Amino acid sequence: MTEKIKQLLAQMTLAEKASLCSGENDWQTKAIPRLDIPSIWLSDGPHGLRVERTGGFYQSLAATCFPTASALGATWNEDLLHKVGSAIGREAAAQEVQVLLGPGVNIKRSPLGGRNFEYYSEDPLLSGRLGAAFIQGVQSQGVGACPKHFTANNQERRRMSVSSEVDERTLREIYLPAFEYIVRAAQPWTMMCAYNPVNGVLASENEYLLHRILKEEWGFEGIVMSDWGAVHDRAQGIVAGLHLEMPGNTGINDQVIVEAVEEGRLEEARLDEIVSELLALILKAEAAKSSAVDTNWDRAAHHQLAQQVSAESICLLKNEEEILPLTAGNKLAVIGAFAKQARYQGGGSSKVSPTQEENLWEHLAKHWEDGQITFTPGYDLAAYHHGAEVEEEKRQTQIAEAVASAKAADQALVVLGLPDSYELESADRKHLDLPVDQNELLWQVLAVQSNTVVVLLNGSAVRMPWHTRTKGIVEAWLGGQAGGAALAQVLMGEVNPSGKLAETFPLQLADTPSFLNFPGDGQRVLYGEGVFVGYRYYDKKKIAPLFPFGHGLSYTEFTYRNLTLSSNTISDQDTLELSLQVSNTGSKAGQEVVQLYVSDQESSLARPEKELRGFQKVYLEAGEEKTLHFQLSRRDFAYYDSSVGAWQVESGIFEIHLGSSSRDLRLTTELLVEATAFIYPPVTAYSTFEELIAHPRGASIGQETFDTILEGILASFGQEDPAKLRESRVFFEAILYDLPLYKLPAFTAGRFPKSQIEILLAATKTPET
Ligand code: BGC
Repeated sequence: MTEKIKQLLAQMTLAEKASLCSGENDWQTKAIPRLDIPSIWLSDGPHGLRVERTGGFYQSLAATCFPTASALGATWNEDLLHKVGSAIGREAAAQEVQVLLGPGVNIKRSPLGGRNFEYYSEDPLLSGRLGAAFIQGVQSQGVGACPKHFTANNQERRRMSVSSEVDERTLREIYLPAFEYIVRAAQPWTMMCAYNPVNGVLASENEYLLHRILKEEWGFEGIVMSDWGAVHDRAQGIVAGLHLEMPGNTGINDQVIVEAVEEGRLEEARLDEIVSELLALILKAEAAKSSAVDTNWDRAAHHQLAQQVSAESICLLKNEEEILPLTAGNKLAVIGAFAKQARYQGGGSSKVSPTQEENLWEHLAKHWEDGQITFTPGYDLAAYHHGAEVEEEKRQTQIAEAVASAKAADQALVVLGLPDSYELESADRKHLDLPVDQNELLWQVLAVQSNTVVVLLNGSAVRMPWHTRTKGIVEAWLGGQAGGAALAQVLMGEVNPSGKLAETFPLQLADTPSFLNFPGDGQRVLYGEGVFVGYRYYDKKKIAPLFPFGHGLSYTEFTYRNLTLSSNTISDQDTLELSLQVSNTGSKAGQEVVQLYVSDQESSLARPEKELRGFQKVYLEAGEEKTLHFQLSRRDFAYYDSSVGAWQVESGIFEIHLGSSSRDLRLTTELLVEATAFIYPPVTAYSTFEELIAHPRGASIGQETFDTILEGILASFGQEDPAKLRESRVFFEAILYDLPLYKLPAFTAGRFPKSQIEILLAATKTPET
């Protein structure tokens, strides 16, 4: 605590301390003028600034609308994320916003999650690295970031009340690591806790998450604020580590804090810790604001950046017969209302008022001569917007016009997507399908035009029942205000696509990992798939996805060769260096995302087939080759062992794969890892013989005792028939291995007394000499 903070604290009354713990209104903290403590401004959000100053929810100030997080995730490009973060940070600083409420780094547990468009990935490493880069960008502008929503907040259905029931290992391996990486790499100024309870305890009151893990284990130095309205027991929140309740609540809970201290239910010293950390944030934010040299920002440059990012996010999912890029010589039928009126962001608190908008049509049409390119809407956007049923006759006429245009052209470009009402904060999607009329339109176009490319505008995976019939499929996400221009660049080949899916696209909803447990029963959602989320599930169950995690094609080809390890045997304390060469063997310059996966070949527990442990995006001119270097260390081989509360590495063979997607692995090698620090769970009377024998200090005495007991049992039957003897041996061996030690006296009719158990247990506790 600095001198200044100590002094302020000493002068504050109890009521003043409590007042700092909740907002003044929706977007500001409280000021204490008599002590010159200012209030600071907070604003959404994850892909652009949403400042509500006057007006309400839909009247935020104009800001650059960048592609939403699922598109940002598909870039796999940390440098770009840093640039986006700095641009948004700069716009925030210009509006005197001191904390930006983003990024969202929750894991996409189900493709139905209503806010998936606001999150990066189904993979924690990718989410963490991109989130950290974004945060470093924001904070480089003297504006704090606020990663959210901490944690296990993976659905909208009952988002304020449903308890995420998730086992410790799954929490540690899937739902916490993105936040952990971010805290360790980027020290965000703030963190937003989730609305939901985690294992029955509200995230806003969860001491285990907010204090023990976030602060004590990871060393988080910032403050935790509540999601808007996530607070219930405010005094418990202070104990747990929730600094700021947002929004203000007209101070109702300030009084709760005061009373809790006065009645001795909350220690004032604990309140002081919380308040001093809040003061540290406020002082830091004020100092950053007053030292900001230049807060002007260039609208055109930010728009240009939004376009670059959008172009890099686009995933070329299918390109049969090289139907893409389009050639302007061919007559083209552009079909789909979204081509002129793009959907480029999702609904809810992240919705930005853009500075300008681009549509695909105007950027495509300029490449064709009059009459060589046509546009037909094919479906009715107004109906989606107003929730109205389209008259059947009008619908059929629109489809017929589109089909006629497709028939008269050499190729068709059909732009489909999810309407606003399908994808927004506070409601999950009900299914994976595009609107029925869009699928019907496409089927009819396909019946007359075999050269058809589909472009998709959506923030999360959709089902594509027609995927074998279209030659090209382009996933353009919710591409932000410049998305239309970016899409045209990719379709025309001016930008070589380099996006890779940061989430699996399944063939059908029933294939998804959380299918049986989403969105849960009543107030409880069981994370029954455990660590098998996203590709970890499809791999393990050998389910073919529609498009796998990490997939995305290019207009060029990349070749991988010469994977070299610094050693083929390492200890779990070593860092492994590895390198490989990647070359562009096609004829166009392009970028490849080289993905590194690790798989544990000999594990005593169920582990994913492989897990992403590194990635690099590399630019290569046609014919160029580059050497890439990666490092792997202990955590990359580890799983979380909740029986001992630690990350563990087991000795054995691991495979290392380098690939262009999770299902397109190009190079594989083996590595022996020797564990030096394995922690064995303590052997107790409830442990089985197998566990005793697995323990290094129990192995020899355990095996000896096991053999004696087994032979004693077999001898007691007096059986001489070798076949029967063999069968009894197998039978009793299996029983004995699984037998908890405390059962031995009864099982051996007293031949193995209780006192012997004590000897066995003592052996496992005696330090080796
Ligand atoms: C959302 C947050 C958002 C906050 C402020 C909440 O409803 O869950 O993500 O930052 O509102 O708009």
